[in-house]
Amino acid sequence: MITDLFRGQLVRLTAEDPELMGKAFSRWYRDTEYHRLLDTSPSQLWSAKKFKEWIEKDYEKDQPNFFPFQIHTLSDDQLIGFLGLFLPTWSHGDCWVGIGLGEREYWGKGYGTDAMRLALRYAFAELNLHRVTLGVFEYNPRAIRSYEKAGFRLEGRERQVLHRDGQRCDILIMGILHEDWDRMQA
Ligand SMILES: CC(C)(COP(=O)(O)OP(=O)(O)OC[C@H]1O[C@@H](n2cnc3c(N)ncnc32)[C@H](O)[C@@H]1OP(=O)(O)O)[C@@H](O)C(=O)NCCC(=O)NCCS
Repeated sequence: MITDLFRGQLVRLTAEDPELMGKAFSRWYRDTEYHRLLDTSPSQLWSAKKFKEWIEKDYEKDQPNFFPFQIHTLSDDQLIGFLGLFLPTWSHGDCWVGIGLGEREYWGKGYGTDAMRLALRYAFAELNLHRVTLGVFEYNPRAIRSYEKAGFRLEGRERQVLHRDGQRCDILIMGILHEDWDRMQA
């Protein structure tokens, strides 16, 4: 029996705190490299207040198909990123996941993969979903490698869907099935 679903080797997942997240998102989005690794929308500067209100509006919708988390280090409880699971339709058991470590000194040290493993454990062991899907930009090899380590496979690509710095770029679609995840636990 898993005693704490939300605790990994390096990080734990916590509930979103709009005040804290508003401040963090506002600061993280000033880092345009981070924004452009994560988001298809054009870089935009938002105040902490605007982010906080945006998160609070999400809560008002009381969406049973959206699972937002903060990512905290286990060593000193620092807020380093976010992770969200979204189920467009429950009946298909397919959920989308998004992740970002806004604190860039934590990139490449295993924290993101640990958080993604927690998300997969939650999706498969707790929600009993059938698959988890994500989209990643082709110019983000660190993310692609991290997702492969967590068990995702490349399933397809949206060709030339992004326009960045005068070049067209693909979005890769990656996925993992419940049965793939089960095999990794054996
Ligand atoms: C993507 C992200 C969540 C991954 O988490 P992370 O903690 O950095 O990932 P990890 O350290 O566990 O793994 C990264 C892997 O990529 C490898 N890597 C790093 N840079 C690389 C590069 N330029 N080319 C190829 N591999 C690279 C690392 O060596 C490591 O693999 P290894 O363990 O086999 O050596 C995190 O980097 C992040 O949030 N980045 C900024 C925002 C972002 O890109 N979000 C994802 C949007 S889809």
